Amino acid sequence: MLCYHLKNLENATNQALAEANLEIQQIDAIAATCGPGLIGGVITGAMFGKSLSSVLQKPFIAINHLEGHALTCRLSHKTEYPFLLLLVSGGHCQFIAVKELGNYTVLGSTLDDALGEAFDKVARMLGLAFPGGPEIEKHAKNGDDKRFDYPRPIYHQKNCNMSFSGLKTAVRLSIQDILSKQGDLTSQDVSDVAASFQRVATEILLKKMSFAIDYYEKLCKGKRAVVSGGVAANLYIRKHLKDLCEKKEYNFVAPPPKLCTDNAAMIAFAGLERFNAGIINNIDFKPRARWSLAELNS
Ligand code: KG4
Ligand code: ZN
Repeated sequence: MLCYHLKNLENATNQALAEANLEIQQIDAIAATCGPGLIGGVITGAMFGKSLSSVLQKPFIAINHLEGHALTCRLSHKTEYPFLLLLVSGGHCQFIAVKELGNYTVLGSTLDDALGEAFDKVARMLGLAFPGGPEIEKHAKNGDDKRFDYPRPIYHQKNCNMSFSGLKTAVRLSIQDILSKQGDLTSQDVSDVAASFQRVATEILLKKMSFAIDYYEKLCKGKRAVVSGGVAANLYIRKHLKDLCEKKEYNFVAPPPKLCTDNAAMIAFAGLERFNAGIINNIDFKPRARWSLAELNS
């Protein structure tokens, strides 16, 4: 991955400039992701951004990857602060009250796997390609989502924490059960497991979203709810969250799917918000593997 980053950073930068019809000197500031994430890739991107900033003599802005996901709705829909955010990706699954730029309260999180990780692992168990989320979504369309009733750990606890590892284990056991009876999985089996898993995972999100709304209302006024992160590209999940939010009279926003999965536009946009607020960083800002949103609170 490190090698891939090194090989592509320069080309990607040149291509972005060409598409925007800009010379590099016309850029006002350089924003780069400085965490959280696999540290090799984070360091490579951060160093590249710092080098550009120092050569061009432009301000450097260190972006938290999660803040990029959190603010994407403001790029796509101009969503106003405050809003309730469900951030659901391959590494994170959290409910956050986004009060304003740099003011985040985490209301609850997964206690074990992130949901995207569970999608990827279930897809692997079913012999599907990586990333697993889009594959599960595709196969689920032809499946019977009631064939398997998987467990929903901590579902009834009145808080916004979630747990997906028991669900993942239950999926594994159901696959083993089919294999022990018939030797392999038919394409109908794959679709039924995918559909049942996706339904139960969505039920967990919906239940916890409704608790999250109750908590959020104790902290903030605006009735706005947003979903973002790679899993938010899932149209089935988006539809069900939208229905729930409309019942609660919330304005629901999901950025276009290509802005939900990792992308540079959301990092540039977070950089723009910080730049406009006069927040810039020193060039010695250290990249970090772990960096919670709450640490950004000023
Ligand atoms: O935000 P993201 O691109 O990277 C991280 O920050 O983790 O999220 C990637 C995750 C992967 O686990 C991938 O399987 C999942 O998002 N994902 C989906 C869909 N598209 C991507 N999960 C469910 N349905 C999808 N359509
Ligand atoms: Zn991400």
